[in-house]
Amino acid sequence: MKKDVRKAVIAGNWKMNKTPSEAKALIEEMKPLVKDATCDVVLCVPFVDIYAAVEAAKGSNIKIGAENVHFKESGAYTGEVSADMLKEAGVEYVVIGHSERRTYFAETDQTVNLRTLAALKAGLKPIICVGETLEQRELGYTETLLKFQTKMALTNVPAEAMKDIIIAYEPVWAIGTGVTATDDQADEGNGFVRAAIEEKYGKDVAEATTVQYGGSMNAGNAEGLLSKVNVDGGLIGGASLKAPDFATIVAAASK
Ligand code: PGA
Repeated sequence: MKKDVRKAVIAGNWKMNKTPSEAKALIEEMKPLVKDATCDVVLCVPFVDIYAAVEAAKGSNIKIGAENVHFKESGAYTGEVSADMLKEAGVEYVVIGHSERRTYFAETDQTVNLRTLAALKAGLKPIICVGETLEQRELGYTETLLKFQTKMALTNVPAEAMKDIIIAYEPVWAIGTGVTATDDQADEGNGFVRAAIEEKYGKDVAEATTVQYGGSMNAGNAEGLLSKVNVDGGLIGGASLKAPDFATIVAAASK
């Protein structure tokens, strides 16, 4: 982390977990545990949990995010949710381009970009996920791929909007597998993302952009990962479903 120049952000990504009543209970449990955080604390929750989550988080330092957003403003897109709908519901952040969405729901770098633009237009803060598969890593394409995904996601995004954008480096091989990138691998991957931002927007913007690491970050390994200069926070899956574990990660980012 380099907290003097950029914000540290710990975001939970609940994925398809927790009913609305369970969401309320988990947030109530988390509130006192994270109240002294000096990093930003975000919980990205399923669409149907948003109302309960926003209510439960009111008056606390927990901000609520969504896990996806459609790129059209409205229309005949059965089952989809627009950025304006999320904004009015009290959502501040939205995860875009998670590898599970790219893998299971055919999202592409182009739709990731369109979602990013739609989110920004509505005043939401995108958390854009990029990351290589194990095969891509072994073939030596990690840097090329991370730079490409980052730049594609940011197509037509003006420099002024970068203050509202977080990029999360999430190596696909580390997500939900229990295999974490080493501290140095995370730092290197985040560094490739930052280099891509620098190539597109210059050094000042790159230095000011929050780049998270995600992929089996947990209470035991967070401190090491967050000690790296390019790791400005985390996008936390499994460990964000347990209040004490999530709070430990928030505490590590608050040092
Ligand atoms: P994980 O998920 O922490 O369970 O590996 C991270 C993510 O998918 O954002």
